Amino acid sequence: MTDKERIDWLRHELDRHNYNYYVKNAPEISDQEFDTLMHELQALEANHPEWDDDASPTRRVGSDLSHEFVQVAHRTPMLSLDNTYNRAEVGAFYQRVSEALGGEPFAVCCELKFDGLSISLTYEEGRLVRAVTRGDGVRGDDVTANVRTIRSVPLRLDPAGMWPAVFEIRGEVLMPWESFERLNREREAREEPLFANPRNAAAGTLKSKNSAVVARRRLDAYLYYLLGDTLPSDSHYANMQAAAAWGFRVSDAARLAHSLDDIYAFIDYWDEARRELPVATDGIVLKVDSLAQQRRLGATAKSPRWAIAYKFQAERARTRLREVTYQVGRTGAVTPVANMDPVLLAGTTVRRASLHNEDIMRQLDLHVGDWVYVEKAGEIIPQVVGVDSSARQPGSPAVHFIDRCPECGATLVRYEGEAAHYCPNDTACPPQLKGRIEHFISRDAMDISSLGPETVDDYYNRGLIHDAADLYGIRTSDINGADGGRQRSAERIVEGIARSRTVPFERVVFALGIRFVGKVVAKQLARHFSDIDTLMAATPDDLLQTEGVGTVIAQSVVNYFANPDNRRFVERLRQAGLQMAVERTETISDRLTGQTIVISGTFVHHSRDEYKTLIERHGGKNAGSISKKTSFILAGDNMGPAKLEKATKLGIRLVSEDEFLAMIE
Ligand code: IVH
Repeated sequence: MTDKERIDWLRHELDRHNYNYYVKNAPEISDQEFDTLMHELQALEANHPEWDDDASPTRRVGSDLSHEFVQVAHRTPMLSLDNTYNRAEVGAFYQRVSEALGGEPFAVCCELKFDGLSISLTYEEGRLVRAVTRGDGVRGDDVTANVRTIRSVPLRLDPAGMWPAVFEIRGEVLMPWESFERLNREREAREEPLFANPRNAAAGTLKSKNSAVVARRRLDAYLYYLLGDTLPSDSHYANMQAAAAWGFRVSDAARLAHSLDDIYAFIDYWDEARRELPVATDGIVLKVDSLAQQRRLGATAKSPRWAIAYKFQAERARTRLREVTYQVGRTGAVTPVANMDPVLLAGTTVRRASLHNEDIMRQLDLHVGDWVYVEKAGEIIPQVVGVDSSARQPGSPAVHFIDRCPECGATLVRYEGEAAHYCPNDTACPPQLKGRIEHFISRDAMDISSLGPETVDDYYNRGLIHDAADLYGIRTSDINGADGGRQRSAERIVEGIARSRTVPFERVVFALGIRFVGKVVAKQLARHFSDIDTLMAATPDDLLQTEGVGTVIAQSVVNYFANPDNRRFVERLRQAGLQMAVERTETISDRLTGQTIVISGTFVHHSRDEYKTLIERHGGKNAGSISKKTSFILAGDNMGPAKLEKATKLGIRLVSEDEFLAMIE
């Protein structure tokens, strides 16, 4: 390959990875591999000025713009940082700074590099007025409504604080490990694709159009950079201490270093200690502390000369691929799984790793017996990130995605715009049938704990059950062995099944296993429609009125009930005596008796449907639109302008979420 061909190839590759990383939030290669390609391109371009191109990926900072948010220009561009992976380069940075400052002494602020999304917050007169993502560095998306839901971001600063009238503070929006793990557990239960790491989860969440979803996901924000015309100090470190005092979450890990040894000690300490942190970090950031010195050092088009990021090595191992097997889930989704020789990685033995889908498999170009690299970049889920193709045995067969279901032989389908393959045989493919029964009995669904996956497997194989409705016809004599020796346990099982008849309607809705309908959505649907017949008759438009339901879920619900098999299944459950309507709500108090209340906007503490129930249980009446009869409006964030105008015209009082909660306290 000539240098020119290599440059073209690298530009194309880097563009593609930029897109995967910033737009799709689905990187295929590690940051380190990306940076290696980027450095190679930078070096080639430096040698060949004749092939300069303004559109080269070396010229831009990446973009996460999406079209659903209003775009706002940054007052000061949001630059990114130069990355290094070794101490020698940290030493070189220190040397460069020292020389550029003419040998004058300087301090370096050492900080953790948080692995989330950068955010710019603007405060005026002590109030948060705007939150903007980095975007392409020049313009970003206005995500103020979503950021307001992050509990650690102050909406109003303590008036006693000595903050400037106008300032900007930048930092990182993150999803703490705990929230991330909970979110993935929920997604796993719903068979939705898992987020590979907290950064992707935070990105997906921050770009959500529904700020209630954002509030539930529990994001966090660490701030690390203060900008403004009148700052408290010339020291970056001192400014961040001040910001901490004003109420911002500022990491207390930051330290001032006065020598290269101080810096190395900081790196060594956190390379280990970061494992105990509640949030993901991917390195260390070093910043020249004095703002005056920062100005003298200046910036290149891409990054400041006064700062550098030292990235931790992603933990990686090399092992052999034995075979690729395929798992069929409850929804029929087929997942390819790499089965490898066991290898130790970040403290655990890894044998299997999901290959996600056909596209990812194809990009890896796997052959049987290949040496593959497995990585866990601070993440829990191991990923196959590449193949050592130089070590490939000649003639070893390539691995191709299957076209028939490994369980039932049906021809797999791949829907337009989706990455996954599905087995369409949902009425006879065993893992789909068994998976649905297991979901039905699970704790958040019908909670039949006397049964487990093994029992389901056993009953299914013995032909005792084909679907969950069959459970309600089981008698102890069916379960019993010929000798009757398992009498007591058989009784317990039948009792457990019988008890599930009292499980509330919302969990019955969840237990049906409608695609994309998780626990939370099932609850909203149950409350919104009150009974199964109304739910079954709902049109997509009706469904879209339910909180948390978008077009994908609405269509999935409609499809489910359009299938005669599913309607028959629901009928059999009804015959079996399951709860098919919400229980009439018992009143708690009469505090709202005689009041007609309109709910508007988005809320932090409860969902809209929960507020509806609360109003009823305190004796009040819910109304859909504002009229003279409206007693007051329970007003959340982002109340629509039309409603606001009408309320003002009729002189109707707005009651905030907190005031309302105090009223019914
Ligand atoms: S300072 C001009 N400090 O890393 C300097 N950035 O690759 C602005 N990051 O875009 C950034 N932790 O999203 C800074 N303590 C920290 C950071 C940090 C994480 C992110 C930030 C930035 C990226 C640079």
